[in-house]
Amino acid sequence: MNKSFSAGCNRSLSLAAVFITASISAFMSGPAISAPDAAQQPEQEVEVLHWWTAKGEIKAAEVLQGSLEQQHIGWKNFAIAGGGGESAMTVLKSRAVSGNPPSAAQLKGYDLQEWGMLGFLTNLDAVANTQGWDQLLPPVISQIMKYQGHYVAVPVNIHRVNWLWINPELLEKAGATVPDSLESFFAAAEKLKQANIVPVALGSDPWQEVTLFESVALAVLGPQGYRRAFVDLDPDMLSGEPMVDVFRQFERMRQYIDVKTKALEWSDASAMLVEGKAAMQFMGDWAKGEFSALGKAPGQEILCVPAPGTQGFFTYNIDSFAFFKHSDDLSIQAQETMAQTILTPAFQREFNLAKGSIPVRTDVDLTGFDTCSLASSTAFQLNQQNKTLVPSISQGLASTSYVQAAIFDVVTDFFHSKQADPEKAANQLARAVKSAR
Ligand code: BGC
Repeated sequence: MNKSFSAGCNRSLSLAAVFITASISAFMSGPAISAPDAAQQPEQEVEVLHWWTAKGEIKAAEVLQGSLEQQHIGWKNFAIAGGGGESAMTVLKSRAVSGNPPSAAQLKGYDLQEWGMLGFLTNLDAVANTQGWDQLLPPVISQIMKYQGHYVAVPVNIHRVNWLWINPELLEKAGATVPDSLESFFAAAEKLKQANIVPVALGSDPWQEVTLFESVALAVLGPQGYRRAFVDLDPDMLSGEPMVDVFRQFERMRQYIDVKTKALEWSDASAMLVEGKAAMQFMGDWAKGEFSALGKAPGQEILCVPAPGTQGFFTYNIDSFAFFKHSDDLSIQAQETMAQTILTPAFQREFNLAKGSIPVRTDVDLTGFDTCSLASSTAFQLNQQNKTLVPSISQGLASTSYVQAAIFDVVTDFFHSKQADPEKAANQLARAVKSAR
């Protein structure tokens, strides 16, 4: 497979890709950067690249900004719209290659390994030792934050991805019940369709289609099978009968989705639930921030249930920040303060309340968190004990960007094909993953 021209996903970071991307993005207009008022310019400043631009996400980013400003560290906002972070990564590559990286960037999962390998990231071991990150963080998380045994990123939150969000009024109107299995999901979707209600809202990005696919895969394969396929990349599991069934169920979903030909953000799809234009959405719990911002209480007015067939399981997405090497002392101090602040209990609480996720520290008081977060916390702990946590494919937590791109290509081609063939797709998946490894 030609990695540079992979259509589905553009996170691949080989040096060649970085340079190609850099020259392409020289033609793009720059990001919106809001500089602080010059009169009150603090001495220290961090320029922070992130893709938290939806209504709820902005509130969460403001918590981080506020915590830094309280410590007299200025915030230079480097926000690049686009859920999943694909556009943000493109812009980051061009800044890094031109020798002008921001102080901090929202980087996560396998991207950390790839940026670490390129030598761009600051070693955070000193802060980590002082604050005791090895003791504070669940091992599944600390391991993602390290490159060759050294911390190169600080985790902000734990997002659960395998959620189904439901507008209960629409379900009731159609005489449907809240689904807890794939079959009951299809039964509910059929009733909604009969009642002329769009059963599932789905945005137009490849990562959103893969978000749906990975929940179907978890339901059909269970955590062990999911791991064997998407983490161990076992060719038999990728091409075998259970995977054919994953594609079959995924295909069945299509008739209940109003597949968009024009661009639709994940947050627009969330808004469709709030506005009564669609009944359900498969999306990570960052969607909660959006529901709240639009005036609907998550867990009450918009219900959260595990994606059908994944009750008790947990697909994780961990947001984290990495810091780029800068030489002046003030920048380095500001970066260290930001890293340290992110792991304080007070920040963890306030930020995660706004973001819809749960804290990475297990000692944070969860009073005031909604029922979706409480359920997420219980499920995370249970799956951690049982060693059944699974990483999100769509969020770059399961595999390298090359393998992720290969999966995106096969899944999205299948989803948009008029003659989708589940058996063929499973074979293609195994082949594409093999050549991308
Ligand atoms: C990030 C979330 C974010 C979501 C939608 C994901 O990639 O991990 O923090 O809310 O994209 O923008």
